Amino acid sequence: MSETLGRAQALALLQEWTKGESLRKHGMAVSVCTEAYGVLEAARLGLSGAEAAEFVDMYACAGLLHDMDYERHPSLTEHPFVGVKYLREAGWPETVLHAILAHADYSGTLRESHLDKALFACDELAGFLTACTLVKPSKSILEVEVAGVKKKMKDKAFARAVLRGDITGGAELLGLSVEEHVRNCLNAMQARAEELGLLGSPPA
Ligand SMILES: [Fe+2]
Repeated sequence: MSETLGRAQALALLQEWTKGESLRKHGMAVSVCTEAYGVLEAARLGLSGAEAAEFVDMYACAGLLHDMDYERHPSLTEHPFVGVKYLREAGWPETVLHAILAHADYSGTLRESHLDKALFACDELAGFLTACTLVKPSKSILEVEVAGVKKKMKDKAFARAVLRGDITGGAELLGLSVEEHVRNCLNAMQARAEELGLLGSPPA
């Protein structure tokens, strides 16, 4: 990705297009999770140095930008198409745009690349992990555990808007068990809890 189109610009675009705190935080949480998969995939591909950094940056940007247009254009005919059109005109890489299109089931764009799959897999799970955090008295993601997350996934009354099938289907797309996928994303979000506003007040 060029120097003028990286995660700083993606974050600025997210903030320009999205005023709501929870949707901003959602973009950031998904970005942290997809970035973690970018790091794993870069290592698997044997990338290093600037090449690896650029590869990982694409994952982070796709996460930040995937719902960028949702606040202004939430309808199925506009989201994520309006955002992608804007980003294409601004010169963002097609790899990122393809993943943003493919995260929406109804877009007609298939999930083909590893980034496509990672973005889809992280979208619902990041939201679910946030919900699991906010019901803790401490509101700290540091207190969330994989087993507890899996248990809550079976509780249909909990965070009912989160599509469990997208989480399990996403893990499958990545060739991972649900447990591995939850662990990867939870570790990634815990490592950046403060930035995501999910540090809460963990007991000392
Ligand atoms: Fe999303």
